[in-house]
Amino acid sequence: MIIQKSWMRNFRNYEKAEIVWNPEMNLITGRNAQGKTNLLESLVYLSLSKSFRTSTDTLLIKSGHEHAEIGCIVEEERQRRLDAVIHGKGKTLMVNRSPVKKSSDFVGILNVILFSPDDLGIFNDAPRERRRIMNQEIAKISVSYLHAMNRYQNLLRNRNALLKEYRPDTGYLDTLDEQMTAESAAIIRQRSKFIRGINRYISDLYKELSGDSIDVTVHYSCCIEDPEAEDIESQLRKMYESGRQRDLDQSVSSTGVHREDLIFEINGRNLIMTASQGQKRMAVLAFKMALLKYIRSETGHDPVLLLDDVLSELDLTRQEKLIDMVTGPYQCMITSAEVPEFLKRKKFNEYAVSAGEIRMTAGGMG
Ligand SMILES: Nc1ncnc2c1ncn2[C@@H]1O[C@H](COP(=O)(O)OP(=O)(O)O)[C@@H](O)[C@H]1O
Ligand SMILES: [Mg+2]
Repeated sequence: MIIQKSWMRNFRNYEKAEIVWNPEMNLITGRNAQGKTNLLESLVYLSLSKSFRTSTDTLLIKSGHEHAEIGCIVEEERQRRLDAVIHGKGKTLMVNRSPVKKSSDFVGILNVILFSPDDLGIFNDAPRERRRIMNQEIAKISVSYLHAMNRYQNLLRNRNALLKEYRPDTGYLDTLDEQMTAESAAIIRQRSKFIRGINRYISDLYKELSGDSIDVTVHYSCCIEDPEAEDIESQLRKMYESGRQRDLDQSVSSTGVHREDLIFEINGRNLIMTASQGQKRMAVLAFKMALLKYIRSETGHDPVLLLDDVLSELDLTRQEKLIDMVTGPYQCMITSAEVPEFLKRKKFNEYAVSAGEIRMTAGGMG
């Protein structure tokens, strides 16, 4: 998959910009606070229909303006045009200039994977961020997962509201449990498959990137005993049965797919508790690279890679290793304060960003 060109109008600190991208390597350079991340943010928005930096869309509109417009041409077998108009009251998403009814008709047409220093948040103590990433990535390859998650969230809201009533109607609780069992079973099967997919690649990628022979694996901390078994539904029914009294006492749904987690392990031990900062950095890169490979194996398509300021955190050997792994198969947009030494030997387009203006410079050998 390739972004052929993209544009922004009154988006963040850009008034008007259009970029024709190199199908392989693109380097975005500039000092701090000039608009490098903003440019990548516009591409993420066109992929997910939301920003990774804020949930308040109006912050994306250039101050003093009414609305922002961003768009791109994506090429994957055929060309498609994506547009997003962000205004005070919401957003309009368009595919080939026709507004879409649901954002799920827009999300996933452009598939990007962002690498950012904030990725280390995946190793926070709380599982929320790990679930968010997992949901986001599975939803990109499976619309049915997205729909099951939405239905589950609605059922969960109803169930929690019911549990807070003075005398909850247990007949209705039975119905909700049965409906949630069906949605949860579909969610568990997809999560389990996703984690198996990541485990096919992550350890080798970690070794290759870091040069250290350490095993990195991801373990699925599931709400039922055995997510690999056939009888997921009956395990879920048992879970609801045995948790019912506790849920009634606490007035909240205490177990279920909304409480699950991914446990990263390094040589069989919990990574969050045992890994050094450097190992965590490598592990998150390996995880992201594993995601790429998994998405490719599931969809047959290569996502576009966005690397935001990740090179500066790596030593030279690892920078070079990472760039070697990503060049060739993927279109890459890399932000960096300056041109990394080893990149000077490669072909790339360079875009110098300064105060919301983009200037294409000669770049590397190409
Ligand atoms: N809605 C907005 N309107 C105008 N300027 C904005 C808006 N949002 C962010 N900016 C500006 O964008 C700049 C930060 O851009 P960013 O892409 O994060 O920088 P960097 O090049 O360091 O990645 C800051 O100067 C900030 O004030
Ligand atoms: Mg930045």
